[in-house]
Amino acid sequence: MLVLDPCVFTIFGSTGHLSRTKLLPSLYHLEAENRLPESVAIVCVGRRPWNDETWRAEVTRWLEERIVDGLDADCLARFLSKVFYFLGDIGKEETFGLLKDYLEKTPAFPTNYVFYLSLPPAEYKMVAHRLALNGLNKEEAGWRRLVIEKPFGYDLEDANSLDHSLRLDFSENQLYRIDHYLGKETVQNVFVFRFANLLLEPLWNRNYIDHVQITHGEVAGIEDRAEFYDSAGALRDMIQSHLLQLLTLVAMEPPPNLDAESIRDEKVKVLKSIRPIPKNAVHAHAYRAQYGRGRLGDKNVPGYLEEKGIPETSTTETYAAVKLYIDNWRWRNVPFYLRTGKRMAESHSMISIRFRHPPQQLFRETQIQEIAPNWLLLGIQPEQFIRAELQVREPGIGMRTRKTILDASTCDATEGYHLDAYEALLLDVIEGDHSQFLRSDEVNWAWRIVDPILKVWAVERDFIPTYPAGTWGPQESNRLFEKESQAWRNNMGGDVCITD
Ligand SMILES: NC(=O)c1ccc[n+]([C@@H]2O[C@H](COP(=O)([O-])OP(=O)(O)OC[C@H]3O[C@@H](n4cnc5c(N)ncnc54)[C@H](OP(=O)(O)O)[C@@H]3O)[C@@H](O)[C@H]2O)c1
Repeated sequence: MLVLDPCVFTIFGSTGHLSRTKLLPSLYHLEAENRLPESVAIVCVGRRPWNDETWRAEVTRWLEERIVDGLDADCLARFLSKVFYFLGDIGKEETFGLLKDYLEKTPAFPTNYVFYLSLPPAEYKMVAHRLALNGLNKEEAGWRRLVIEKPFGYDLEDANSLDHSLRLDFSENQLYRIDHYLGKETVQNVFVFRFANLLLEPLWNRNYIDHVQITHGEVAGIEDRAEFYDSAGALRDMIQSHLLQLLTLVAMEPPPNLDAESIRDEKVKVLKSIRPIPKNAVHAHAYRAQYGRGRLGDKNVPGYLEEKGIPETSTTETYAAVKLYIDNWRWRNVPFYLRTGKRMAESHSMISIRFRHPPQQLFRETQIQEIAPNWLLLGIQPEQFIRAELQVREPGIGMRTRKTILDASTCDATEGYHLDAYEALLLDVIEGDHSQFLRSDEVNWAWRIVDPILKVWAVERDFIPTYPAGTWGPQESNRLFEKESQAWRNNMGGDVCITD
């Protein structure tokens, strides 16, 4: 195992949702697995009038709620001894000078620093700049790393402005733009599956693939994030970031090696090759809708406009679907359909790759009416799997086929210890491995793809179609499909040997 540099891991916004539900539990798990550096201090910045003692009691409470398999008393004691509270309001300039003194003058603290901005995005520029004004970007005594959370900007212009501002104070090498989707084991498995198996390579192109679908569906509504969600919407929240990242992994060329820059170069090439959507073609390429009242199981649930904190005239989309083409040698004219929605029938993320029909209808004189096409399904969450659907002959008299599934799932949740996405990414930050983080140009190109859609939708504010909560979204989104034979794939295909 790699020996990690000792460091101070400073969390801004430590009292917030992300810190409570992901960052602190992940750091606890890493401590439990002995994966943290031998010397580490976790400094939590907050403006509530707490101290180390009250903070540790809070953290214990949050961990008790979060760690389902129970807390280990020794591990908890070890972990808490590394956790500190720094009282400071980021809105006050003097906070940063005091923080610098605290970090530098506490003898037990290591000299490498991570600054994790788990803050409202509007604060990123100001906090990064104030860190730099106090010399906390200078790498003389040790390395300095700045982690920022998505969203990286509100639109193309805002993202460029954020980037420009961050880059005045921190080098690209010091920046870690986190998209926790990239830390998921199956997402990484897409990469291994593609490039460690020669079998697939000859098929992985426009000659054999009919289309690709990337779906992220959530049964949940907007929960308590009304303000954030209503200003963001599904396209910004999911497609611009997570789903385009999945698309790059499916479509990229093999990198020359596994270093972060080589991988990110290839991903950027894919984004650059996506055919721009002119404003007058937005309706042919994108569809949006909002959930209305509906049923989840035996429960009635309210529509989006009835959710607490949502203005009654909001036309923010809770469902977005787009069709994209990648204009390069491998993918020309293969549609990639990306779709996401809240209050859908099921919560799952899946990449579904549909192969073309065999070129000859050899079985036309038999009872087989039409051979069903092959699918390759890559489950991202909650189930992680890799499944290929093939046709085999059904035993018995006559010529009939049925579907069978080759299941190449590798992640048995009961086997060994699996790092969750945040755990893996936090370790990557400490290791200084950028490969699962977004580079500035990657973010910029991803915004360029969705920007024309956002601009058109932003002015069309009079009406938005709806779909009943608890369904797979509106039928009308089918108009994005190129051919009648294409349709949304909702079924994860786990049921082996279903007769067509
Ligand atoms: N939550 C998630 O699952 C999730 C997922 C992906 C990305 N993100 C991103 O992660 C970031 C944090 O999200 P969140 O959900 O944790 O937000 P949140 O619950 O609203 O937390 C924001 C944090 O910022 C702190 N803060 C705000 N103004 C401050 C100030 N002037 N001085 C000191 N602290 C201040 C808040 O402190 P108080 O507690 O004192 O108000 C709170 O700790 C956001 O950029 C979000 O987009 C979150």
